[in-house]
Amino acid sequence: MHESVLLNEIVEFLRPNRSDGTLVDATVGMGGHAEALLTRYPAARLIAIDRDPRALEIARGRLRKFEERVTFVQGRHEKLIDILKQSNIDAASGVLADLGVSSMQLDDANRGFSFRFDAPLDMRMGPDSTSAADLVNTLEESELRKILRDYGEEPMAKRIARAIVEARPLETTTQLAEVIRSVKRAKKPNDIDPSTLTFQALRIAANEELVGLDQFVTDAVEVLESGARIAVIAFHSLEDRIIKRALRRLEGECICPPDLPVCGCGSKEVVKILTKRPQVPTALEQEKNPRSRSAKLRVAEKL
Ligand SMILES: C[S@@+](CC[C@H](N)C(=O)[O-])C[C@H]1O[C@@H](n2cnc3c(N)ncnc32)[C@H](O)[C@@H]1O
Repeated sequence: MHESVLLNEIVEFLRPNRSDGTLVDATVGMGGHAEALLTRYPAARLIAIDRDPRALEIARGRLRKFEERVTFVQGRHEKLIDILKQSNIDAASGVLADLGVSSMQLDDANRGFSFRFDAPLDMRMGPDSTSAADLVNTLEESELRKILRDYGEEPMAKRIARAIVEARPLETTTQLAEVIRSVKRAKKPNDIDPSTLTFQALRIAANEELVGLDQFVTDAVEVLESGARIAVIAFHSLEDRIIKRALRRLEGECICPPDLPVCGCGSKEVVKILTKRPQVPTALEQEKNPRSRSAKLRVAEKL
């Protein structure tokens, strides 16, 4: 079961700026945040987006009792503006994105997200993604190394990329984990599994998880009504950095190179950031739900 992270915080921050407004859950997943929002704000409507058809099916079942207030859309949050147009919505009273992968996806042995299960090397969140098998079997060694370094921050990216290229074709999670283990071993019993960073990196690349995140924030702010809020939960520093920078730019921070004598970026203040430091789960939540430990929530309000 996927436990929604920072649930109370999201419900409080995303109080719609008008009671009958439309909230957008851009990553509805198992529908946990959506259910709490629809319960707490009984006049609000919700656009529920996810790229994963299986997630949408589960959310649809969970949110059945709110049926007449919810519109489900299968798609990527990067297409927010088009999605809202198709749903005849021209402004939102709040936007949520709870990024990354859900426990349902990780725990579904057949989907190949985890080295814990022997499965085809898939990792696709939706039909528009590329499979991890395609990446490991077709990319140049240098491209694989870059993915492992940039998206996994894997210190042994070079050796692992070389071992993958020498061992391919690789078809299953177990084959990949064995190749990684042949060059990288856990030093202490409590160390993370040697495959963790490589699997994370391939998942991010297969699903282009960082591509379009900056655009998503920009578009979400554009469709927000004045006084409405955007809330984004990130689970690793790469995502969080993109969200932080996008919100600061939208708060009017100049993004010109430091040696430019006069500002030329024309950045304008369109939001006020409500979380100067990202909000993190309480110690109690972290204890109850270990997956929440890396979560960081940033919230901004449209001026
Ligand atoms: C952490 S889960 C969301 C969980 C949800 N908030 C809940 O309470 O059940 C993230 C979801 O985002 C979806 N997702 C990831 N990237 C996406 C994207 N670019 N566009 C739309 N959905 C995306 C995944 O398929 C997954 O279902």
